[in-house]
Amino acid sequence: MMFWLPIWLVTAMVLTAQPVWSQGNEALVKQGQEIYENNCADCHRSNGEGLPVKFPALKGNALVTGAAAPLIATVLNGRKGPMGLMPAWKDHLNDGQVAALATYIRQTWSNQAPAVTPEMVAEVRKRGK
Ligand code: HEC
Repeated sequence: MMFWLPIWLVTAMVLTAQPVWSQGNEALVKQGQEIYENNCADCHRSNGEGLPVKFPALKGNALVTGAAAPLIATVLNGRKGPMGLMPAWKDHLNDGQVAALATYIRQTWSNQAPAVTPEMVAEVRKRGK
């Protein structure tokens, strides 16, 4: 799909989609929050508490604050489980966006886990899990 877009448009998309790494963690978390609000909060809610029975809480969730790879894989590939369908994001969010998003949900709502880098996302994307 990307291949038919004019180069200036691709450049603009890349520029606006790139996280502001140079500005430190705060800017990264802020970018992640924006991505979360736009893509995830409808189901998992802005406070990360989800909705009983329908959408799991991400606050205090061991999958969110545990090893990075299973979290990245869940976001990229989605999943069909007992609570329903978690959509896949691999075609909608690039590595930098997923990294910012994952860093945000690992470091907000009293969650505490190390940041996720675009390199970690790229690796899981390549491996497929
Ligand atoms: C349309 C609703 C919906 C949207 C939008 C959505 N999710 Fe989910 N998500 C779910 C459901 C339902 C599950 C549980 C699936 C299951 O039963 O295994 C889930 C599961 C998860 C899990 C695994 C939780 C666990 O305990 O195993 C994570 C992490 C997660 N979502 C993160 C996100 C992120 C980050 C976004 C935004 C990019 C997002 N979700 C967008 C519905 C959604």
